[in-house]
Order: sequence, then structure tokens, then C-alpha cells
Amino acid sequence: MTSILFVCLGNICRSPLAEGIALNLKDKYDLNIEIDSAGTGHWHVGNPPCENSITVANNNHIDISHLRARLIKKEDENKFDYIVVMDENNYTDLIAMGFKNVYKIGNYGGFEGADVPDPYFFDGFEGFDKVFEMLDISVRDFMYKERLIS
Ligand code: 4NP
Repeated sequence: MTSILFVCLGNICRSPLAEGIALNLKDKYDLNIEIDSAGTGHWHVGNPPCENSITVANNNHIDISHLRARLIKKEDENKFDYIVVMDENNYTDLIAMGFKNVYKIGNYGGFEGADVPDPYFFDGFEGFDKVFEMLDISVRDFMYKERLIS
């Protein structure tokens, strides 16, 4: 079974959104794939996604409130076919940990390799719509390019 792990720093803002969007596509296309997310930082392990991510997902008819943050571990490299990161820092951190199957989501959907901006440092809700839109387009394009959806 194909498996995808989305990774960001805290695993409470961006990667849970990417996971929710991919889970939504999995449902829609009835795909036999495994989807998960994790963070490179430990601060929020066990916590639900941030309120603003839950809200922007809800606004787009996706429920991510049940997701819980976890730390990435070395075994994830063998467990997942695709490790998909949100920004250059995530990429560098995973390469330093020895991961090889790392993809950057900004290379999909016409974003020319851009980072998904870290909304943790945004002022309130502003910016979360843009992050959702970027992930909605890039996650769909990633799954299309990897022939998981048509
Ligand atoms: P995320 O955002 O990586 O999109 O989940 C962050 C969440 C928390 C922190 C940093 C980024 N933090 O430093 O606690």
C-alpha cells in the first residue's frame, strides 16, 4: 500500500492540514493509501492541531480536530514511501537525520519550490486561508503527479 507522511515543524498547523486534505482525497477517490503527519519538533506532541488550522479546514468541509501531533522518527523512512515536507528547514532537518525519500510540497502545484509559510508566527487567522489554498492545490498536484489520483 502506498503511504505518505507529511512533515512540518510543530505538526499542529501545516502538516495536519496537508494530512486532512490528503485524507479527504483518499475518501473521495476511495484510495488504498496510508496517510499520516509528524513534526521535527517535540513541543506539541499529543496536542490537536492549532485552532486556526481546525477552523480553516472546517470552512473547507474537512475535519482535522481528531489528529494529534507526533514526533518524526527514523523508522518512518522505511514505513513511508513519500516523506513530504512543508519548507526548506524541514527538508534540511530530515536530510541531516539521514532520510532519503524527502519531497518538498512547494515543488508541486506551480509554486516553484516555495516554502509553505509557517502560520504559527502569523497574526491571528490572517494567512491561514492562503496556507490552505496552497496546500489544497499542491497536495492534489502531488497525488496526481505520483499517479495516486487521476
Ligand atoms: P507548524 O507550525 O510547523 O506548521 O505546525 C508551528 C507550530 C509550533 C511551533 C512552530 C511552528 N513552535 O515553535 O512551537
